[in-house]
Amino acid sequence: MNQVRIGIIGAGRISHVMSTAHAQVPESKLHGVFDVVRASAEKLASKFNIPNVYDSYQDMLASDEIDAVLVCTPTFLHEQIVIDAANAGKHVFCQKPMALTLEQCERMNAAALENNIILQVGFMIRYTPPFVEVKERLDAGEIGDIIAIRSAVFGWEPSAEWFYDPDQGGGILIDTIIHTFDLYRWYAGEVTSIYADGGAYVFEGARKFGTADNIMCALKFENGAMGSIYGSWSSGYGDKTLEIYGTKGSFFIDLMEAQGGRAFIKKDREAEAPNPAEGWNNLGVLWKFGYQQEARQFTYSVLGKVPPQATGTDAVAAQRLALLADESIRTSKVVHI
Ligand SMILES: NC(=O)c1ccc[n+]([C@@H]2O[C@H](COP(=O)([O-])OP(=O)(O)OC[C@H]3O[C@@H](n4cnc5c(N)ncnc54)[C@H](O)[C@@H]3O)[C@@H](O)[C@H]2O)c1
Repeated sequence: MNQVRIGIIGAGRISHVMSTAHAQVPESKLHGVFDVVRASAEKLASKFNIPNVYDSYQDMLASDEIDAVLVCTPTFLHEQIVIDAANAGKHVFCQKPMALTLEQCERMNAAALENNIILQVGFMIRYTPPFVEVKERLDAGEIGDIIAIRSAVFGWEPSAEWFYDPDQGGGILIDTIIHTFDLYRWYAGEVTSIYADGGAYVFEGARKFGTADNIMCALKFENGAMGSIYGSWSSGYGDKTLEIYGTKGSFFIDLMEAQGGRAFIKKDREAEAPNPAEGWNNLGVLWKFGYQQEARQFTYSVLGKVPPQATGTDAVAAQRLALLADESIRTSKVVHI
């Protein structure tokens, strides 16, 4: 196989971003699409020249012409589709969050492992340049051991009410801060305790479902490092910052569009020259590089050219953190893992 024929399940907002990304990977061929709303599938098909619009995702999974699927449906529908796809022997890219409960995620991961297929989950920040560079430089030991890691993650008002619903989208921790939990595990390893607070500060949807639209979270890692996250759905400009302080230096990524957008890395208290990310904002950098590299990673891992990343096993671990943070908010207690 030198090209991966892709089927897309769910033709809403993120499927357009994913299709744009895959269209830039020569080894990836968008070959089919299914959405319960046929007009949405047809719109995607016509925009990206996708030759087949299926009547059901089961029809797509039964086709020999599909090697892998991108699962882009609302979160509460991921589990069954991913398990069916794995059982049909298709490789799977599942949008984050993997699902809603830990048990669902574990069943999905088990199906992937049993069927020996690639299961990649949509943690595109792992492929976005300043974050990749930080990972490489951390692993090279440039700032020594991590002492503290903190970030601010600004989302925007969810596009549909299901995002707030614990039974459909999971709320801000599971839907959005899951990216940061994955990133922190990638950088700093496993977490041993977590405390979170938050509430419905702004949006009626969050109030209605008793979930949060703003959260603050404190974590402790197995290696002794400390972490914190401020996450907001109401800041409205989709940017983020990340700071990592180590025994020999620090990294600071600043993707604050509202402030002009800059990313720089400093070490031993001396600011180095700005890296090529200067001037990028978070959305710019994600759209130009993050999703595309994510699509390339998925395609190449299906082709056996690179080891899998952001796997089902990683996503189960990130999900556990999001759920424990949620539990901490509900119980006002530190949760020890
Ligand atoms: N990684 C990211 O940056 C990112 C960004 C946005 C959303 N997401 C995730 O992607 C997923 C989809 O989010 P979205 O914003 O695109 O939602 P959306 O509501 O815009 O799109 C969902 C689509 O799925 C379709 N659908 C519903 N039920 C279906 C079914 N049974 N079978 C097939 N199609 C069905 C809907 O008709 C709709 O077109 C969610 O899990 C969300 O958390 C990830």
